[in-house]
Amino acid sequence: MICFISGLCEMVHLQELNIDNNDLWGLLPPCLANLTSLKQLDISSNQIRGNISSSSLKDLPSIQVLHISNNHFQVPISLNPFFNLSNLKDFKSENNQIYVETMSYSLIPKFQLNSITLSCCGTIGTFPKFIYHQHDLLEVDLSHMNLSGEFPYWLLSNNTQLETLSLVNNSLSGTLLLPSQSHMHLESLDIPINSFHGQIPVEIGAKLPKLLYFNISRNSFDGSIPSSFGNMSFLQSLDLSNNKLAGGIPEHLAVGCFSLEKLVLSNNSLQGHIFSNNMNLTNLEVLQLDGNHFSGEIPKSLLNCSSLRVLYLTDNHLLGKIPRWIGNLSILEVIAMSNNTLEGPIPKELCQIVDLQILDLSENNIFGSFPSCFNSRIKQVHLSGNRLEGQLKDAFYINSSKLVVLDLSYNHFKGNIPSWIGKFSSLGYLILGNNHLEGELPIQLCNLTELRLLDLSQNSLYGKIPSCLDFTALHEENGDDATITSALMNTNIFLYPGSIAFRSEESIQFTTKSISYLYKGRILTFMSGIDLSCNKLFGEIPDQIGNLTAIRVLNLSHNNLTGSIPITFSNLKQIESLDLSYNDLNGKIPSNLVEIYTLSVFSVAHNNLSGKTPERINQFATFDEGSYLGNPFLCGLPLNKSCNLVESPSLTPGASTDNKEDDNDFVDMDIFYITFVVTYIVVLLVIVGILYVNPYWRRTWFYLVEKLIISCYYFVIDHLP
Ligand SMILES: *[C@@H]1O[C@H](CO)[C@@H](O)[C@H](O)[C@H]1NC(C)=O
Ligand SMILES: *[C@@H]1O[C@H](CO)[C@@H](O)[C@H](O)[C@H]1NC(C)=O
Ligand SMILES: *[C@@H]1O[C@H](CO)[C@@H](O)[C@H](O)[C@H]1NC(C)=O
Ligand SMILES: *[C@@H]1O[C@H](CO)[C@@H](O)[C@H](O)[C@H]1NC(C)=O
Ligand SMILES: *[C@@H]1O[C@H](CO)[C@@H](O)[C@H](O)[C@H]1NC(C)=O
Ligand SMILES: *[C@@H]1O[C@H](CO)[C@@H](O)[C@H](O)[C@H]1NC(C)=O
Ligand SMILES: *[C@@H]1O[C@H](CO)[C@@H](O)[C@H](O)[C@H]1NC(C)=O
Ligand SMILES: *[C@@H]1O[C@H](CO)[C@@H](O)[C@H](O)[C@H]1NC(C)=O
Ligand SMILES: *[C@@H]1O[C@H](CO)[C@@H](O)[C@H](O)[C@H]1NC(C)=O
Ligand SMILES: *[C@@H]1O[C@H](CO)[C@@H](O)[C@H](O)[C@H]1NC(C)=O
Ligand SMILES: *[C@@H]1O[C@H](CO)[C@@H](O)[C@H](O)[C@H]1NC(C)=O
Ligand SMILES: *[C@@H]1O[C@H](CO)[C@@H](O)[C@H](O)[C@H]1NC(C)=O
Repeated sequence: MICFISGLCEMVHLQELNIDNNDLWGLLPPCLANLTSLKQLDISSNQIRGNISSSSLKDLPSIQVLHISNNHFQVPISLNPFFNLSNLKDFKSENNQIYVETMSYSLIPKFQLNSITLSCCGTIGTFPKFIYHQHDLLEVDLSHMNLSGEFPYWLLSNNTQLETLSLVNNSLSGTLLLPSQSHMHLESLDIPINSFHGQIPVEIGAKLPKLLYFNISRNSFDGSIPSSFGNMSFLQSLDLSNNKLAGGIPEHLAVGCFSLEKLVLSNNSLQGHIFSNNMNLTNLEVLQLDGNHFSGEIPKSLLNCSSLRVLYLTDNHLLGKIPRWIGNLSILEVIAMSNNTLEGPIPKELCQIVDLQILDLSENNIFGSFPSCFNSRIKQVHLSGNRLEGQLKDAFYINSSKLVVLDLSYNHFKGNIPSWIGKFSSLGYLILGNNHLEGELPIQLCNLTELRLLDLSQNSLYGKIPSCLDFTALHEENGDDATITSALMNTNIFLYPGSIAFRSEESIQFTTKSISYLYKGRILTFMSGIDLSCNKLFGEIPDQIGNLTAIRVLNLSHNNLTGSIPITFSNLKQIESLDLSYNDLNGKIPSNLVEIYTLSVFSVAHNNLSGKTPERINQFATFDEGSYLGNPFLCGLPLNKSCNLVESPSLTPGASTDNKEDDNDFVDMDIFYITFVVTYIVVLLVIVGILYVNPYWRRTWFYLVEKLIISCYYFVIDHLP
């Protein structure tokens, strides 16, 4: 029982009670019904529970405003218990359990609501009947309820004053039917994540002339964008993303919607040039056109958008150079233009953009060197898959301790990895694979304690793996998804959508560059690992790598590494892919590797390993011969080579042999065979040599042999039947 304020029920003249955002729990007291003057009650965001049908809320005769969001109430979708509350104007219930009654009522509610919010969760079916009887609604939010049926155009004609209609994340279908008369008050129409299809009504601009916010993202609308949008001179936010729209951006829209701050047309099939010269979207702050078929050059008319902060042009067919005038868009924070056919050098003018935080020009035809200036706010630089060249050393120098991602892979950079890399104290993702880098791994890599992903694969790096590589971000306590997510959220715009480097395909490539495993990893955001494959590294694998317990991918294949596989690798309890193939590793495979339950890719093929393969239990039962091939002294399943042959003549007592002793047995047997053959040949040669030099001994030898043959002959004759 809830007794939040003693004596509360005695305040019979109380008109307003706001006790939201507390930690109240339990049921509402029945005596609440004594508050006959109460007009406003806000009990949102507590832990109060109970079935509305039997609670005292339905007995508050004067109530006008009732907010019960974020509790544990059971709310009937019909709102039947409130039907006698003739003064109720404003009812809000988000995040309570909404249920459908089995009984159907034919009563008419006594209330005329101005504002209704019912959202979350479950499958409600069709629109609740009480809504049909309302004609004074200003604000309607029926979201996340899996409502089915068609677009409620009647709600607009019934309620001529309606300002806001939100039907987010339901199962509404059919076309977007608008009432025959223009609606002069609707400001916000928010219907993303439904199953609407067909065309956007051609006359939408005339039907909804006062619209400020229009969102139909994640439906199946097709056809073209009606140019009547251009009549909506108040429109501030237009989101038509993730539909099947075709055609171009109507010029009338680009001229007429001059209040537009956000234009989001991502992931459709739009084509043609982006804007003509007449574009007049002077208030635009966010422009997202990624995932379409736009062609032509980046339009110069963007210069009109001096407030532009976010520009996504990813995944289109844009060509031409990156314009120098882009430097005039001085408050840009995000420039994402990956996967186009842009060419030419990176203009120096980019350096004028003082607020730039994300630059993504990957997968284009950009060449030349890198501009040597960058502001200190930059967090992400993605330039992979271009034709950039020059020494990395003087290619660029970002004076930024905020840099989190540096992806320069698949370019033609050469020279050493510069030692100043150690200054990027926040660097989490260093991706320099597939270049022509050479020289040794700089010891300063060890200063990058925040590093989660190091990809230096497919270069010509030489030397030893520094034993100080010990990235604290890859220690277990920092490795779970929750910690990563919160860390990334702190870098604010880290998880920006549409970045090539953070798509799942990339992670597959990350582990499969050199070997064609079918490995579907997680998105690169959560990828943690070290890929030094396809270089010229030698020396031993440092034991310390076994400290990087949060690592998910380790690829050291195609180098000249020697020594044995560190026993500490069994600490890598989250590793999913371990590739040590094509090296010169020797010794035994540590048998405790079988304790790694997360492993789905494992290869030690083409080394010099010896001894028995790991027991075929846990994950190791799934690895086939390919994981071990090319190690002549390796035996056991799944190789077709039994270990018994070499184990049976073992001299040590079979009982308590640990790894070390097994190892020694092996070496002994090898040495035994080799010395046996060598000794045999040497003895033979010595005998022949002596016989050749000394005629007396030769004669004696032949006499002896003759005598032996004769005695053998008689021996056989005597003993045959
Ligand atoms: C409040 O209502 C209860 C019944 O729920 C009643 O017993 C009580 O007398 C009422 N108190 C006042 C002050 O009216
Ligand atoms: C709430 O109470 C009504 C009647 O008192 C009952 O029909 C309904 O099933 C209850 N709902 C839930 C979710 O308990
Ligand atoms: C509403 O009032 C009518 C008549 O006064 C009554 O019959 C009915 O039970 C009331 N409904 C509710 C839900 O209190
Ligand atoms: C949509 O609503 C369902 C509940 O009906 C919820 O589980 C789901 O998370 C919602 N999806 C989004 C994208 O909000
Ligand atoms: C939504 O409702 C439909 C039936 O209208 C049902 O098939 C579907 O599973 C429901 N979806 C969710 C997420 O509950
Ligand atoms: C609202 O529209 C529905 C469906 O057209 C209609 O049945 C109902 O009478 C209308 N209600 C009002 C109050 O106009
Ligand atoms: C449109 O709705 C989707 C889904 O709720 C949301 O993620 C997106 O941010 C909205 N677009 C705008 C421009 O607010
Ligand atoms: C461009 O927009 C401004 C308002 O921002 C308006 O005054 C002007 O007439 C528009 N120009 C054209 C060519 O429509
Ligand atoms: C690049 O963009 C095209 C469309 O322009 C798209 O089909 C393709 O999937 C994109 N590539 C990647 C790697 O996303
Ligand atoms: C790197 O770390 C070493 C000590 O481990 C320190 O002496 C050096 O100053 C650090 N360098 C940078 C650039 O932080
Ligand atoms: C890291 O590994 C080294 C050598 O294997 C060991 O001495 C050290 O204690 C380890 N550090 C941690 C934090 O596990
Ligand atoms: C690495 O090994 C390969 C083949 O064993 C050999 O040809 C090459 O010279 C070695 N490279 C170095 C740097 O030792």
